[in-house]
Amino acid sequence: MALTIGDTAPDFEAETTEGPVNFHDWIGDGWAVMFSHPRNFTPVCTTELGYMASIKPEFDKRNTKIIGLSVDPIENHEKWADDIAATQGTPVNYPLIADTNYNVAKLYGMLPADTEGDPTERTPAQNSTLRNVFVVGPDKKIKLVLIYPMTTGRNFDEVLRVIDSLQLTANNQVATPAQWQPGDDVIIAGSVSDEEAKERYPDGWESPRPYIRMVPQP
Ligand code: BEZ
Repeated sequence: MALTIGDTAPDFEAETTEGPVNFHDWIGDGWAVMFSHPRNFTPVCTTELGYMASIKPEFDKRNTKIIGLSVDPIENHEKWADDIAATQGTPVNYPLIADTNYNVAKLYGMLPADTEGDPTERTPAQNSTLRNVFVVGPDKKIKLVLIYPMTTGRNFDEVLRVIDSLQLTANNQVATPAQWQPGDDVIIAGSVSDEEAKERYPDGWESPRPYIRMVPQP
């Protein structure tokens, strides 16, 4: 079965533009986002990597590390980083995994187990399933999986929004409603009884139905 929410993120050793990485050690006690892309020197990916560089401070604020991945070799990553800085306005400021042996792509179910051969001879279309996002928590469990089509650039602001929601849930036993943005009202989690909720929220809550209990964001 494909990796899903709640699974332990497979650990791995990989070469990156910032040196060798053991994934779990690299995550440490914080959160992590690993995002993959089909091939280097492709237009959609170039915009994505540039945008991620520009919003890295937002991930830092959330104690979240970011790491990119493609099957291209390190020397391609370095050459492409120059293009990204020149065309997108922000130098790449996070590591890029050179998954030349497809180890990570296979571990995470992004490429078939029988994938082999020279990664520089593969077309972007052959790697079309490599536009994924995995958010991993401090417990090394997968918290979010996104798989995008190769022709659609990802909305990384949504990844930040989900991390905000996940971190709020982890600290406060609340859930977030549709289209929630930080500062909007939240939902008291179903695991909190009305008795417990009264202690936590002595001013009460908005309740259009007994199972919908809305409170200001803690
Ligand atoms: C791109 O990132 O632009 C791209 C990736 C795969 C196929 C085609 C384009």
